[in-house]
Amino acid sequence: MKTLLITGASSGFGRALATEALNRGHRVVLAVRNPESVADLVAQYPGKAHPIRFDLTTPADAERAVRETVEEFGSLDVLINNAGYGLLAALEESTDEQLARNLETNFTGPFRLIRAVLPVMRAQKQGRIISLSAIAAYANHPGFAVYAGAKAALDAACDAASQEVAPLGIKFTQVIPGPFRTDFIGRSLDHGSRIPDYEGTVGKFGGFLSKMDGKQPGDPAKAASAILDLLDAEKPPFRLLIGSYAHMIFGKKLASMDAEINVWKEKGQPTDFSPGA
Ligand SMILES: NC(=O)c1ccc[n+]([C@@H]2O[C@H](COP(=O)([O-])OP(=O)(O)OC[C@H]3O[C@@H](n4cnc5c(N)ncnc54)[C@H](OP(=O)(O)O)[C@@H]3O)[C@@H](O)[C@H]2O)c1
Repeated sequence: MKTLLITGASSGFGRALATEALNRGHRVVLAVRNPESVADLVAQYPGKAHPIRFDLTTPADAERAVRETVEEFGSLDVLINNAGYGLLAALEESTDEQLARNLETNFTGPFRLIRAVLPVMRAQKQGRIISLSAIAAYANHPGFAVYAGAKAALDAACDAASQEVAPLGIKFTQVIPGPFRTDFIGRSLDHGSRIPDYEGTVGKFGGFLSKMDGKQPGDPAKAASAILDLLDAEKPPFRLLIGSYAHMIFGKKLASMDAEINVWKEKGQPTDFSPGA
């Protein structure tokens, strides 16, 4: 039995992960903006499901969430940085306020939570840190400039941190989904103001998203099961792609990056100092 801290447990992946973890007998701290949203889980799993009020955009919430988890259950084995949301806007269409809130939610807030949890995991000499990334961070679509940038920043930070803490028994995994049937495209998606010149790119992608809402191929319950299976893996992957769409798009991206690097290699590679210089 492990102790998990899961952010954004009110809906989508977070709720599916919390439900699956509780069904497997783990203790789960449900970190949510509105504790009423998880009252059913708390009633269903007394002594195992513990709600705390948590907002990624409130800096003090990170250390408080970790402290309250340890006070409640005596340990913190797994952090699942799940909460986040998308912003559909061309880079030029985003406002400073939208940029700041999206970065705070998808990068700075999760980063702070990882920083707060590491002293506990170092003392335990073990821990798992799992973050919800996005295929957008790797193979972007027009309209996700801010969102993809924030997710990519967290992935890069975790890549570095995973090497810093590997000798200390702490393991990272970035979960990379394509479209899954959650509230992500619906109530959670933020929108920029529209500039007509972007209708053929961002507008078109927005139309694709609207049509897909409610019909996304990914099943959050199956994803939750695959993600929680990682807890039994001695060597979990740094990246876990989930769903057929993410696998298809990531494969295409890798192939096109490889081709582009090779086409431009003769230009880019011979830029070192000459031997003996
Ligand atoms: N579904 C997809 O297709 C997809 C694809 C790629 C990546 N993802 C990622 O998956 C993660 C979970 O999203 P989802 O798909 O499950 O969407 P969701 O159903 O909309 O859930 C988002 C969760 O994040 C919480 N949240 C948002 N802002 C927050 C804040 N400032 N502080 C604390 N909690 C906050 C929401 O809380 P409230 O209930 O209070 O709003 C909600 O619990 C996100 O990181 C998202 O970027 C999803």
